Amino acid sequence: MPESDISYNDLVTPSVLKQPIYEPGKPIDLVAREFGLNPDETIKLASNENPLGASPKALAAVKEFLEETYLYPDGGCYVLRQTLSRKYGLASEQFVFGNGSNEVIELIGHAFIQPGDEVVMGEQAFILYKLITLLFQATPVEVPLVDFTHDLKAMREAITDRTKVVFLPSPNNPTGTLNSPDEVVEFAESLPDHVILVVDEAYAEFLESPVDLRPLIEAGRKIICTRTFSKIYGLAGFRIGYGYCSAECAALLNRVREPFNVNSVAQVAANAALGDEDFVEASRRCNDRGLQQLVKFCSDSGLSFVPSVGNFMLVKVGNGAEVFKELQKRGVIVRPMGGYGFSEYLRISIGTQSENERLIAALQSALLLS
Ligand SMILES: Cc1ncc(COP(=O)(O)O)c(C=O)c1O
Repeated sequence: MPESDISYNDLVTPSVLKQPIYEPGKPIDLVAREFGLNPDETIKLASNENPLGASPKALAAVKEFLEETYLYPDGGCYVLRQTLSRKYGLASEQFVFGNGSNEVIELIGHAFIQPGDEVVMGEQAFILYKLITLLFQATPVEVPLVDFTHDLKAMREAITDRTKVVFLPSPNNPTGTLNSPDEVVEFAESLPDHVILVVDEAYAEFLESPVDLRPLIEAGRKIICTRTFSKIYGLAGFRIGYGYCSAECAALLNRVREPFNVNSVAQVAANAALGDEDFVEASRRCNDRGLQQLVKFCSDSGLSFVPSVGNFMLVKVGNGAEVFKELQKRGVIVRPMGGYGFSEYLRISIGTQSENERLIAALQSALLLS
């Protein structure tokens, strides 16, 4: 190899060096290796996955499909698109699919976010919005939450002529909080015409009555809603999510995606999962019970928490980084929240009843509660 005075760092697009790195939940095998644990006895309550596993209907469909995987996928996700079109009562051209809803949000960046644009978001909103904004060299305008909840009035006031996109998660991760449907509709209606509202509905299926923005989309408001198969459908590893919006907007998002961005196995799994109502119902019940279990434990032990409508909850434990480590020693992986400025909190994904019991026992021991 010839000597060179030029390194990759000299060549890299300067903004890449400033790009923050997303820290995912730690995988079970990694924690087991680090702490000398048996992976089978280690539990992960760190990434808001479904503790019941994947939708059984999705798994059955995938098993049947595997021999077809020598063919490229249908880049247009035709079958899934038709199923969703029927489910939502929207035209099939109103959907866009991604390798997780994460990718749909990135496609929004590709299509709409340019250097010099401002992107309005909650200060402790899901971190991806900030990462995508910075990736496209735009300016994140972060509006502090009030009572852990998005302050829609302040977000409205933060909008300028340079605002291109507003991100609103409904509910938010990591806080598990929600603005009421009426407030969200009022906010959407108050936005000027040059602003695109992105409503991230990753956890909407856990809600009794999520906000319905389809009438506003149909009325011509610039709104993109995103959803995922990673949460209630239990398909996080397949990586598939989607957005719905006007057909005009979906066509633009489709222009900037890679031709085969969603693999065929994920498409088959997602399509079958949409018909797995029993699983969705069981997942919702499991989550409701788990939230109650964790709320009761926190209340009985005098631990503060942020009431959540998602499949996770913020719990105040003191030194979050330290307790995170102590829990790992006990075979329980949760998520420290220092990156969000909540260094005294842990975000705990809701598990099965027995996983929650393990978490509670580990927390009691780590915090020396009796
Ligand atoms: C609020 C929110 N939006 C989007 C995502 C991305 O999910 P996925 O890319 O798996 O669809 C997550 C994942 O945790 C999330 O919490």
